[in-house]
Amino acid sequence: MSGKDLTVPDTAPKKRYRPEYILVFLVLLSVVGIALTDVTPSKGFWYWMAMAPVFCGATIAVGWSRIDRRGISKGKLIWTQVSHWFGYLATIYVNISGLCSFPWHLSLSLWFSFAFGNQKRLRGFRTLEYHTELLNINRDKCKKDAICAAECPMALIQMNHGDGYPRLFPGTEEVCLRCGHCIVVCPHGALQHASIPTDRCPSIRKDMTINREQAVQFLRSRRSVRLYKDKPVEKEKIQELVEIARYAPTAGNRQMVNWMVITDQDKIHRLAELTVDWMRFILEEGPEAARAPYFPAIVNAWDQGMDKVLRDAPVLVVAHAPKEALNGMVDITLALSYLELAAPTMGLGTCWAGLLQGAILSRPEMKEILRLPNKHPHHYPMMLGYAKPRYYRLPERKPPKIVWEGPSVSRSDISKHA
Ligand SMILES: Cc1cc2nc3c(=O)[nH]c(=O)nc-3n(C[C@H](O)[C@H](O)[C@H](O)COP(=O)(O)O)c2cc1C
Ligand code: SF4
Repeated sequence: MSGKDLTVPDTAPKKRYRPEYILVFLVLLSVVGIALTDVTPSKGFWYWMAMAPVFCGATIAVGWSRIDRRGISKGKLIWTQVSHWFGYLATIYVNISGLCSFPWHLSLSLWFSFAFGNQKRLRGFRTLEYHTELLNINRDKCKKDAICAAECPMALIQMNHGDGYPRLFPGTEEVCLRCGHCIVVCPHGALQHASIPTDRCPSIRKDMTINREQAVQFLRSRRSVRLYKDKPVEKEKIQELVEIARYAPTAGNRQMVNWMVITDQDKIHRLAELTVDWMRFILEEGPEAARAPYFPAIVNAWDQGMDKVLRDAPVLVVAHAPKEALNGMVDITLALSYLELAAPTMGLGTCWAGLLQGAILSRPEMKEILRLPNKHPHHYPMMLGYAKPRYYRLPERKPPKIVWEGPSVSRSDISKHA
């Protein structure tokens, strides 16, 4: 794949800060100024002169940071800031000209200055309707086409308000899946979601769309690789694979898949050995049903010095999830599938470590050796390494077994109607 890497966000995540802290800091500076002006008015004057750029810089920074995060229109922000600075200059003028000589008057005028600069906050509920903590609509960009409302899987976005703009159904912020569908489906870029920064949602590049034939070859050429080069896998590559895997769907978009990456060869060998021990136990004492026909050959190979369990893989990746992930096994399976599909693009191969999984499920002490958290009942290990074999054909599979219910429409029917 060439060009820009879509798994890497456009920019590093911006550090969040609360503008309220800055405002509290400014109020404290104001209190100091009031006290100073009260005691020595001449020093107070210079104090306020020095504070002017501090107040100016801080409030402008707070205001413009809110444009990105909350979808406030630039025109409205400029008006807010101009009025704020008018209020501030008026405050200083009132103080210097002697129109107001009492500190409480000064503090009152400072409050007015603050109030001018924060009209949006003071408008209270009306403002909150449009700028909820979660979803913000940029009214300059929104075309009221209701695409977001139709798309939201939880039906949280309402259009039936007098002004025709979309907004979040009141009290449903906790229900939101944080799936991001509302922001990525809007053709005008009018929505912003507090939990899903838009600058971390890259545009879809049309020139990188693959056609059906390419998709079929890509998916059919995925292989379980069981022969690995004697070469370690770079940490960056493993990290990149996990980054790709986190875009797999998860039930309720819970995203609770955790990862364990084992590169310690002694540990991988020990895990394979314990798996063989478990297989021996099954062969000797386990129930008949548990005796897989291929167990003897694998145990025999181990005794000959060959690891047919973890295949001397240089890396073992274990995806695991807590019990709170109700569809944890499905989420893990999907994440590992994404990882498996992406691996060949980096020269890497993978194989699901089903024998090890069987041993972990049967022997709790193996979970301890793996250091899997007790409260993570969902897990699956996967081998990873540089692939030795090269494949020249796509193997055939059994035909699918499908039960069709309801009327079926063929391609020719569709073209007749078109
Ligand atoms: C195991 C599993 C079960 C899911 N069940 C539902 C479902 O019942 N209804 C639904 O609308 N979406 C369901 N989803 C889809 C998820 O909500 C969706 O993957 C997630 O919100 C992320 O959105 P995306 O798939 O568009 O990236 C399910 C996904 C998984 C993996
Ligand atoms: S993030 Fe998903 S669930 Fe939340 S409002 Fe947007 S579309 Fe609806």
